[in-house]
Formats: sequence, C-alpha cells, structure tokens
Amino acid sequence: MHRPSHHKMTSKAPMYIYATEMVSAYYNCLNLRRKRVLSITGSGDQIINAYLRGAKEVIGFDINQYASSILELKISALINLNYFEFLNFFGNSMDNGTLDFKLYSKVKKDLSNKTHKFFLALYKEFDYNGKRLIKSDYFRERSSIKVAPIKINTYLKDEESYLYCRDIIKGKKFQSLTLDINDIAVSNSLRGKFDIINLSNVLNYLTGNTKSEDIIKTLTSVMRNVSKRLKPHGLFFYYSYSPHGFQGYKIPPASQLEVIDEIKKVGYFEVVFKKFSGVSFKTFDRVNLFKKSENKSGNPTPKIK
Ligand SMILES: C[S@@+](CC[C@H](N)C(=O)[O-])C[C@H]1O[C@@H](n2cnc3c(N)ncnc32)[C@H](O)[C@@H]1O
Repeated sequence: MHRPSHHKMTSKAPMYIYATEMVSAYYNCLNLRRKRVLSITGSGDQIINAYLRGAKEVIGFDINQYASSILELKISALINLNYFEFLNFFGNSMDNGTLDFKLYSKVKKDLSNKTHKFFLALYKEFDYNGKRLIKSDYFRERSSIKVAPIKINTYLKDEESYLYCRDIIKGKKFQSLTLDINDIAVSNSLRGKFDIINLSNVLNYLTGNTKSEDIIKTLTSVMRNVSKRLKPHGLFFYYSYSPHGFQGYKIPPASQLEVIDEIKKVGYFEVVFKKFSGVSFKTFDRVNLFKKSENKSGNPTPKIK
C-alpha cells in the first residue's frame, strides 16, 4: 500500500489518532444542541464530541481520504470496546496506543467491508503488531502534546460519559467527505447549509506558499466561501494555538491578531475570540468565531454569544 507522506496535508496523508486541540473546552463555549454541524474530520474526535453535545447532524469533511477510515474505526471501537479497552487501543496518552489486534477483532464487527479490508492490509504489513502499526507512517502521533486524550475529549472524560456517548452515537449517521476546504462552496457532494462549521486549525496551513501581499486576500476568499455554507445566523470557527507554542517559528497568518483584524474589515465579519487552557503546559489556546456581519460598515459590534 502507498505509504503516506508525513509532511503534507494531502489526499493520502497519515491519520490522526486523537484531536490535537481542546475540543471539550471549545464546545463548552458553543451551543450545539439540535444544530447542523460541518466539521473537519481529522481523527473523528471533533465529530463524536459534537454529537455528544447534542448536535442533530454532523457531517465531516477532510482532504485526507483516510480520515473517513479512522472515523469509522473510532465509532466502531466506541460501540464494541469498553472504556478501558478503548483507551488501551488508541492510548490514554497521545503516544501509547496499541491498536492491539485482539481488540481489533472486536472492533471490526461494525466496520464496512471496505474499511475492514483497509485496516487488515495495514495489520498484515506490520505482522499484526498494532504497536508497530500505530508508530508507522500511516499515523500521525502528536507526542509533543502532553494533555491527555481524556481532557481533550468529553466522551473520554470517564466511563459514564463514554457509555452515554455510545448511546447517543448508536442512533446517528456518520459521514466524512473527501473534500478540500477550497471547494466547500461548490461541492455537489455537500448538501445544504449549516449552523456551525468547525475548521479545526486548517486555515493555519493554507498560506504556507502564499506571497505576503496576498495573504489577506487568500484567507478572506476561503472564509467567504465557507460562509456560503452558513445558515443566516450561523458561525464558523477555527483553532489557534497559544503564541507561546510557536517559539522560534512565525505564528501562522490566520492566527495573527492583526491579520484577523484586517480580514474582519475586508470580509465584513463579526469576530469573537474564546480562550481556554491550551494543549501545552501553562498556555492558552483559543478559537476564532466568525459570523457574517449584518451591517457592512466593516467594523460591526460583535454579537456572537
Ligand atoms: C489541520 S489537521 C491538524 C489536527 C487538528 N488540530 C485536530 O485536532 O484534528 C486536521 C485535519 O485537517 C485536514 N486538512 C488539512 N488541510 C485541509 C484542506 N485544505 N481541506 C480539508 N482538510 C484539510 C487534514 O487532513 C487533517 O486530517
């Protein structure tokens, strides 16, 4: 099987094992009850937590075609493994998952044929040794993140939350489209509009090769396209890691306050920041919430609650 490249966010890239951002903290700042949500799929965690918080429908999308496989694996694990087995399988820290093949034989029960074949081929490549598989190029471990997955994910907070989440997801449909954020407005496979769109930290990756004079234009254009998928009072948001985490590196433009201020004016957005304890020790991460402004003055009063 073609081994994914670790350095790229492409259609065949390594799968994330867990979300690498404080999903439980930012969903605390939003009301997801009965909402229609569109979310980056990543490891599947943003989707599972959104259902747990009462979302009516959550549709995932991701440029990485393998994201739908890890989402399916997670859902099936949640249904077929107990709380402790799940934490053994994916890890109770960011880097100690086992993908134990004996546990996989329980997980596979609810996998589609296609996804089972996919994972079976990976196990075979690593002699059915899950620990080697999870350390391979097929996965993106984020061992630099010291916050435990049970703090990142409300569904893993304790056994009770896990079982409650299992009850909720049993009645839900899971879907992850292979889709680039740049095509979000025009995609025919994506239907209708959303109350909330979760872009994870994808905007931080979009301007890597963009000339500095084009950065505002590029980001505003993506954000305008994303807003076309919003219901009238809907909002989209994206994640920014604490500036302290970028020591020695430049903060990505989409997370720079001056850039956001400019985009807000050019794109007629209302913007609100929500800060919370971050994924690194003693830092604060935030989400940037964007709403289409009702007046076009370019400097509206933020109304996002
Ligand atoms: C940006 S990554 C980082 C991990 C993230 N912080 C999390 O907690 O999941 C999240 C996901 O975004 C996807 N992604 C990156 N660029 C994308 C794009 N242009 N369009 C759609 N998805 C993209 C990646 O494939 C990955 O699965």
